[in-house]
Amino acid sequence: MIRNNKTRLYETETKIKLKDEYEREYNAIKDKIIQLQVNNPNLDIDENLINRLSNDKSLDTREVLKKLKLDSEGYGRINDLLKDDDLEEIMVINDKNPVYVYHRQKGMMITNITLQDNEIRQIIEKIANQVQRKIDKQTPLLDARLPDGSRINATIPPITPDGATLTIRKFKKTPITIFDLINTNTISSHLAAFLWMIIEGMNAYSSNIIIAGGTGSGKTTTLNCICSFIPSYERVITIEDTMELQIKHQHIIRCETRPPNIENQGEITMDMLLKNSLRQRPDKIIVGEVRSKEANTLFGALNTGHSGMGTLHANSSHETITRLNNPPMNVPKIMINSLDFIIMQKRLYNNMKGSIRRVTEVVEVTGMELDNLQLNKIYEYDPNTDKIEFKAISCNVLNKIALMKGLTYKDILSEIDRREEYLIEKVKKNNEHHIDNVEKLIDDYYNTLNN
Ligand SMILES: Nc1ncnc2c1ncn2[C@@H]1O[C@H](COP(=O)(O)OP(=O)(O)O)[C@@H](O)[C@H]1O
Ligand SMILES: [Mg+2]
Repeated sequence: MIRNNKTRLYETETKIKLKDEYEREYNAIKDKIIQLQVNNPNLDIDENLINRLSNDKSLDTREVLKKLKLDSEGYGRINDLLKDDDLEEIMVINDKNPVYVYHRQKGMMITNITLQDNEIRQIIEKIANQVQRKIDKQTPLLDARLPDGSRINATIPPITPDGATLTIRKFKKTPITIFDLINTNTISSHLAAFLWMIIEGMNAYSSNIIIAGGTGSGKTTTLNCICSFIPSYERVITIEDTMELQIKHQHIIRCETRPPNIENQGEITMDMLLKNSLRQRPDKIIVGEVRSKEANTLFGALNTGHSGMGTLHANSSHETITRLNNPPMNVPKIMINSLDFIIMQKRLYNNMKGSIRRVTEVVEVTGMELDNLQLNKIYEYDPNTDKIEFKAISCNVLNKIALMKGLTYKDILSEIDRREEYLIEKVKKNNEHHIDNVEKLIDDYYNTLNN
């Protein structure tokens, strides 16, 4: 596939189109209604009102009413974009350029919608109202989550002098599952079975894991998928800056940080949530993104026998360690040693397949030698074959599980193979990949063992 430098077009219908000469009249009526609503939020909008506000008696008031309803529900002309589950991101840069979208398959696209400045501001106002926050000259930026889970960032002048902007990272309604990851080759079936083994650990040992990679490489998604392997009897606590994880687990507490209010008070940080979670008897602590001081608390917990998983922004396993070890995280190497695995994920560009997401490496942290952490490569990705291969001659965690279960290392490898076969069989059945089926499919595996 040759990359075309021209951005492709994403076309959507603005459902009700008035004749051109009525558009200006329509906008005038809409502005008047908005002003009336300031004093009377429960204003009844009907044909009578439109007739009263209109200067043009030939206007089709019924059509105008329909259009007004459509514009006022949801988010106006970007509604259709918000409904399209194939879009990853919606980007409004100002009123002079069309809205951009990032399509899951087709990449960056340009839409046939250009919003007016007042439309952009209305959408931003609406979102700000929903989350009971303000956006104005004093605080010209807004970070928030929509009711459907999508994340939004809005800015207005003076920080974006060209006009108001809006960036929406859309929430995927039907989340990607572990079966999808195998199906799309983000991970191999063997790696999936291996992850199953080290997370469930045959009830003997559950590994501490960090998924590292760049922005948008799919770290959070992979973390979400592999959480399906957490046994149902474990108590899970998740801690996030903005809730992204959609873990289907019954016994779960989900926590989210809170920014300070206008008086700069009431902030709840990741670190505070993490410290609090330790008083909640967690079996598994999941930190959405490890970034700062909370890293120290997390590794403190891991060193005292808790089990944890999380994501971290880094471009290699060595960089992961360096970032953990340096400010602002400052985790001493001796404590990083409690980490079992680093999973590296990347977004790559493949000549045939275009943009792809791959786990490119799995390394095990095997101990300290002098002042250095020792890393053992367990899986390695080959960009030529687009395959990830199991490279380990030995793996400490698998040995540990074998020892605790009274089994041999070979037994554990055979069990991984059995799980792989099971996963392959399920991946073939296309209709079973939905997130609602995953928990049962994993449970079914244990049931087949017991029978
Ligand atoms: N393996 C994958 N295959 C296809 N799309 C993916 C995959 N992983 C993530 N995505 C999509 O990429 C976007 C960014 O993923 P996310 O997990 O939030 O990345 P990160 O946490 O690394 O920033 C999301 O819209 C998500 O749906
Ligand atoms: Mg993420």
